Amino acid sequence: MITVALTKGRLYKDFTAYLEDNDLQQYIEPLSEDTRSLYTIVDNVKFIFAKGPDVPTYVESGVADIGIVGSDIIEEDTFNILNVSQLPFGDCHFSVAGLPDQGELRTIATKYTNVASKYFREKKMDVSLVHLNGSVELAPLLGLTDGIVDIVQTGNTLKDNGLIEYEKILEIHARLIANKRTFYTKEDEIYKFLTEIGVF
Ligand code: PRP
Ligand code: MG
Repeated sequence: MITVALTKGRLYKDFTAYLEDNDLQQYIEPLSEDTRSLYTIVDNVKFIFAKGPDVPTYVESGVADIGIVGSDIIEEDTFNILNVSQLPFGDCHFSVAGLPDQGELRTIATKYTNVASKYFREKKMDVSLVHLNGSVELAPLLGLTDGIVDIVQTGNTLKDNGLIEYEKILEIHARLIANKRTFYTKEDEIYKFLTEIGVF
């Protein structure tokens, strides 16, 4: 049995759409079930559903052998995992955004303080960061900060809140990650699953 860590966020929709596009019927139904259960088993594969930032934690410890995670998570935090490959879904990007008539950016709200501080340090911009846990678009609207650093996918959240992108920071894609030990000790099972879903 191998354990695959998935997230039930936005990336999950992209992953199930990928399974549908590739006609991987055996996985579509069990993974699309409307249930509060946090795991499901298909043949020799146990899928667990974690919060995005927790996927690498499960994989690092080895209780999950592989995981599918947005590269935003592994850009923001450091994990002792194998960063195996990029996957053909989950594309979006990090941007700096704010109100159309904003002047200088002195304060920025974000969930991604490491990504943001690296970016502003490289640009030699003196910016104070305010850490928020989500819905960061509220910060410039309410005057908490001058702007935000956040993920943009369709652009609808920015648009619906009257915000614009100032600059793109970094592309984001789904990534396959693996435990450094079990990726080799369970090589055959992992390889079989990854081949089946067309990743290898
Ligand atoms: C994410 C992200 C943006 C939005 C981008 O938020 O933080 O707000 O999605 O997607 P879009 O460009 O397609 O609108 P999410 O809905 O995951 O919630 P959170 O920010 O509260 O975590
Ligand atoms: Mg958001």
